Amino acid sequence: MIATGVVMVTTRVDDRPWGLTISSCCSASADPPRVLVSLRGQTVSARRIAAEGRFGVSVLSEDLLSAAYRGADTGKPKFIDSFCLPPSRHPHVRTPVIAGAPAHLDCELFKSIDVADHTLFVGQVQTAILMGGKEPLLYFQRSYRALGLWPEDQVCGW
Ligand SMILES: Cc1cc2nc3c(=O)[nH]c(=O)nc-3n(C[C@H](O)[C@H](O)[C@H](O)COP(=O)(O)O)c2cc1C
Repeated sequence: MIATGVVMVTTRVDDRPWGLTISSCCSASADPPRVLVSLRGQTVSARRIAAEGRFGVSVLSEDLLSAAYRGADTGKPKFIDSFCLPPSRHPHVRTPVIAGAPAHLDCELFKSIDVADHTLFVGQVQTAILMGGKEPLLYFQRSYRALGLWPEDQVCGW
C-alpha cells in the first residue's frame, strides 16, 4: 500500500553475519542521530539484536535484490557471509556491512519497546558509511521495484 525503501538489519548469529530484510526503518531523531526498526518479536534476528545490544542497517540498492531475497526467506537461516564486506574494510564498524550498500549505519541499541507481536528497536548511530551513485531498491504492492525516471510530460513544475 505504501511505497518504501528496503534495508537489511544486520547482526551476528554463531559469530557469522546474519541479515533480515525489512521496510520498517525510519529516522527516530536527528540530534542525536537515532533510527527505528520494527521487527517481529521472538525471531532469531530480534533475539540476537537484544542480546548483542547493537544492530546494523544496510540500505539496499536495486543491484542488491539477491541479498533482499536471502534476508526475507521466512523460516530459513539468514546467513549473509557472501554479501558482506570483510570486517577488515571497516575495522571500527561492529556490525556486518553489505558490500555495495549505498549506506550502512552501525547502531548501538538505545531502547527497545515491545508492541504486541513486534519489537521496536531504536538504535543510536555510531558510524555511518555512505556511498553515492546507487539507485534504491523499493517495495510496493508485494513487489520489489526500481526507481524509474518519470517521463518528461509527467514531471510537475510549479
Ligand atoms: C519488502 C519486505 C519488507 C519487510 N519488512 C519487515 C519488517 O519491517 N519487519 C519484520 O519483522 N519483517 C519484515 N519482513 C519480513 C522478513 O523479511 C522475514 O521474512 C520474516 O520476518 C521471517 O523471518 P523469520 O524467518 O526470522 O521468521 C519484510 C519482508 C519484505 C520482503
